[in-house]
Amino acid sequence: MSEDLLVAQNIDVSFAQRSGLFGVVPASKVLQGVTVRVGRGETVGIVGESGSGKTTLGRALLRLIDVTAGRISFEGRDITRLSETEMRPLRRRMQLIFQDPMASLNPRHTIRRIVTEPMLFHRVAINQTDAERSARAIFERFNLPLACLARYPHELSGGQRQRVCIARVALLAPDFVLADEIVSGLDVSTQAQVLNLLKALSRDLGLSMAFISHDLSVVRAICDRVYVLQAGRIVEDGLCEDVFAAPKSDYTRALLDAIPLPRIDAGWLDRSSVAQVSA
Ligand SMILES: Nc1ncnc2c1ncn2[C@@H]1O[C@H](COP(=O)(O)OP(=O)(O)OP(=O)(O)O)[C@@H](O)[C@H]1O
Ligand SMILES: [Mg+2]
Repeated sequence: MSEDLLVAQNIDVSFAQRSGLFGVVPASKVLQGVTVRVGRGETVGIVGESGSGKTTLGRALLRLIDVTAGRISFEGRDITRLSETEMRPLRRRMQLIFQDPMASLNPRHTIRRIVTEPMLFHRVAINQTDAERSARAIFERFNLPLACLARYPHELSGGQRQRVCIARVALLAPDFVLADEIVSGLDVSTQAQVLNLLKALSRDLGLSMAFISHDLSVVRAICDRVYVLQAGRIVEDGLCEDVFAAPKSDYTRALLDAIPLPRIDAGWLDRSSVAQVSA
C-alpha cells in the first residue's frame, strides 16, 4: 500500500441553515464520520447518488470548507485548522478541476492568459516567455492546436475546453488533483480522450487524484480504489476490481445496476479512445 498523501479522518461537515419562517432550522449534517485516504500516485474514486456528499467531501479535502469534526492531513501534517494564509503554500500543490469548464474559464480572457497567469502567480514560470514555452509543450502533448492559445473559451469545443482546464492544472505540477464530475456532459469518445489524458498525466507526474463521479464505469476505468458514499456516510470501500465484482452493500449494487450495460466492462476506455494521448 502506498504512502498516504491526503487523509480525511472521521470528518463531519454541517451547513448552518438560515433562519426561516418558523425560527432557526438546525444545522444539517452533510458528512458523518467519513474517512478517506489518498496514497501517493493513487487515483481514488468517490461515488454515490446526487446529494450524497461527494462534492462536499472533495471541498473538505482541499480545505475549501471547514469540517465540524475530524481531521484533514496532507503529507502527515494536520491542516484541519490552518488559516488561508497558512494554506497558501499548499494551494499550488492541491488543485481542483470542475465539471463545467465554461464556468471555470474566464470568458473574457484568452486561453493563453488562462493557462499562463496561474504559472506566473504560483511562480512555476519565471516570466511570460517561460510560461508560454511550457504551455505550448503541454498543448502539443494534449493534442490541442496551438492556435487555441489566441482564442477565447467559447471558441473551443467542450472536449478542448476540458483539456485546457487539465493543462492549466498540470502546468502547476500539483501533488493532488480533485476531479469533480469532469467528464459528465461529454460524449463517450471525448470522455475517453480526457480520461486517457488524466491517466497518462497521473502516471507521469506521480499525481494523486480523487475522482468524483456518479458514473461507475468511468470510475472503474480510471481508479485504483473506490469509496461509496450514501447520505454522507461511507458505506463501502476497496479496490475497484473487488468492489465492482462483488459489491457488499445493496446501495453499491443498486448504483452498479444503474450503469448502461454496453459500458459495464473495464475495457471500454481503451477501445473507445479515438486519440490515445500518452507520453
Ligand atoms: N453550501 C451549502 N449549504 C447548505 N447545504 C449544502 C451546501 N452544499 C451542499 N449542501 C447540501 O449537502 C448535500 C450534499 O451535497 P453535495 O453537493 O456534496 O452532493 P453531491 O454528492 O456532490 O451531489 P451531485 O452528484 O448532485 O453533485 C446536499 O443535500 C446539499 O443540498
Ligand atoms: Mg457534486
